[in-house]
Amino acid sequence: MVIGILGGGQLARMIIEETGKFGFRYKILSDIQDSPAGQICSAQVIGRFTDYDALKKFADGCSIITLENEFIDKKYVEYLESLNIKVLPGSAVVGMIQDKLMQKNKLRDIGIPVPAFGMTETKEDIEKFARRFGYPLILKSRTMGYDGKGNFKIDNKDQIKEAFDTLKGRGKLLCEEFVDFTRELAVQAVKSTHGEIKIYPVVESIQKDHICNIVKVQKNFDKNLTGKINLIAEKVLNGINYTGVLGIELFELKNGDVIVNELAPRVHNTGHYTTEGCYVSQFENHIRAILGMPLGSVEMKHDAAVMINIIGDRNGKASPEGFDELLRDKNAFMHIYGKEETRKGRKMGHITVTGDELSAVLLKAKELHSKIKI
Ligand SMILES: Nc1ncnc2c1ncn2[C@@H]1O[C@H](COP(=O)(O)OP(=O)(O)O)[C@@H](O)[C@H]1O
Ligand SMILES: [Mg+2]
Repeated sequence: MVIGILGGGQLARMIIEETGKFGFRYKILSDIQDSPAGQICSAQVIGRFTDYDALKKFADGCSIITLENEFIDKKYVEYLESLNIKVLPGSAVVGMIQDKLMQKNKLRDIGIPVPAFGMTETKEDIEKFARRFGYPLILKSRTMGYDGKGNFKIDNKDQIKEAFDTLKGRGKLLCEEFVDFTRELAVQAVKSTHGEIKIYPVVESIQKDHICNIVKVQKNFDKNLTGKINLIAEKVLNGINYTGVLGIELFELKNGDVIVNELAPRVHNTGHYTTEGCYVSQFENHIRAILGMPLGSVEMKHDAAVMINIIGDRNGKASPEGFDELLRDKNAFMHIYGKEETRKGRKMGHITVTGDELSAVLLKAKELHSKIKI
């Protein structure tokens, strides 16, 4: 069976790495020749998501198509569906999630708590929003944002023009109240075509320069919080009629409440630890879910796990080194995505460390990570 993946980045690569063992073949659509997934898939089409010919060539021979990023406009997903190929998650849900305003409206409609937000077409709309909700606030691109690109924090009235001028070239915008969160949490929730649902453990995610940097997870995480978040996750999966793995980013507030920051219609960076940390990874459960196979256990194998991203800190040819100590440790794991070029802020790989006690695992992970260069 050939499974199509829209996109050739590390998420596609890890799906292939994790599920090639089932004998599936993968075909990808990527706009670059030597992409992380392109290096290991069985077939690829080089082309843009906006090119109907490329989409058609890509779809040819695929039994089902999924995606590894949300940067494909809904109408192109609809085109693939019009070729009579199942795309999961499908165009309706992808179209809703890829527009942060539509996504927030939908979440609010189904009773999920989100930060205050408002449609923003002019600078005056930003002023109006600020009069109501105060500063700071965050101006966001409605589409195509990732790793904080597309966000601008506005601390006072004088910054409105700069923020608006910086982001307006990226398309439509929305305003959001600035949430003074205590922690950023996340979960991966998965629902199969048969309606079976599993929710991975709640993780804490620590961002650096708006990029996910460290993910910490432990079996004995706050039960009360886990309960609240599992209810949210289940309500979202059902409320938006989702199939596959859904990444849910959350803010924990000072009063203990939890609100949703955003959804990602795919496997998620905060779930990379599941490859070694859980019995069945998010990558495998995503494929199981869209194919209607029984879902695997999302339970952790150890009491604690920490994932740290390997992020480029210079521009040039990548040359990964410094893994010797990690490789000698049976509870430490390296992942390099095969990107030729490193760039400042580019996700190049990650490490995961598992163990019995979170603070010790975190310390070890940081130490091993500090030896790595790319
Ligand atoms: N309303 C908000 N209040 C405070 N911080 C925010 C808010 N929205 C986003 N952030 C911060 O910016 C990061 C990236 O924003 P996000 O909307 O998740 O965009 P992206 O699509 O780039 O992941 C978040 O992980 C969080 O740290
Ligand atoms: Mg985000």
